[in-house]
Amino acid sequence: MFPSHTHLPLSPLLPAMKTRMGPGLLLLIFLLPACLAAAGRETPYEKFQRQHVDTSGSWEPDPNRYCNLMMPRRNMTVFNCKDLNSFVHGALAMITAVCGSGGTQHHGNFYYSNSPFQVTDCQTTGASHWPHCVYRGDVHSKRICVACKNGQPVHYARPSVCSGP
Ligand SMILES: *[C@@H]1O[C@H](CO)[C@@H](O)[C@H](O)[C@H]1NC(C)=O
Repeated sequence: MFPSHTHLPLSPLLPAMKTRMGPGLLLLIFLLPACLAAAGRETPYEKFQRQHVDTSGSWEPDPNRYCNLMMPRRNMTVFNCKDLNSFVHGALAMITAVCGSGGTQHHGNFYYSNSPFQVTDCQTTGASHWPHCVYRGDVHSKRICVACKNGQPVHYARPSVCSGP
């Protein structure tokens, strides 16, 4: 008599709980892996392009404004303000060629471009506090140093990594 009596008030609640939690749980279960998969689908070469390649022939000429436009646009201010990032201006084929005929192997898989590229270096300023990221930009013409894998650049390195001994 007692056990069935104490269980009775709970049972009408259970179907309601199920239907109310359903959509939220479904969103978590299906969207979370989808987001992780979308992020994981980017290959190292694609990530290099997103972070370091600007193929647009004409770009915002003020380097400060350029960096403050491009760092968010290329998703480098999503989880934090990436401190230092360089954009190489040029055709993808020219930049990719640094891993082959357009570059010289320096050490390991690091290649130094034979010719200079226009490069905008973006660096956070003291006023930068995530999610409000603030950048200072500098444009230089310089040879670039990249790590290559299967003939494709996958990592941008400071030029000094390739210019030293
Ligand atoms: C930035 O992230 C958003 C959301 O994941 C994505 O839709 C967009 O394509 C990304 N932008 C770049 C340049 O990868």
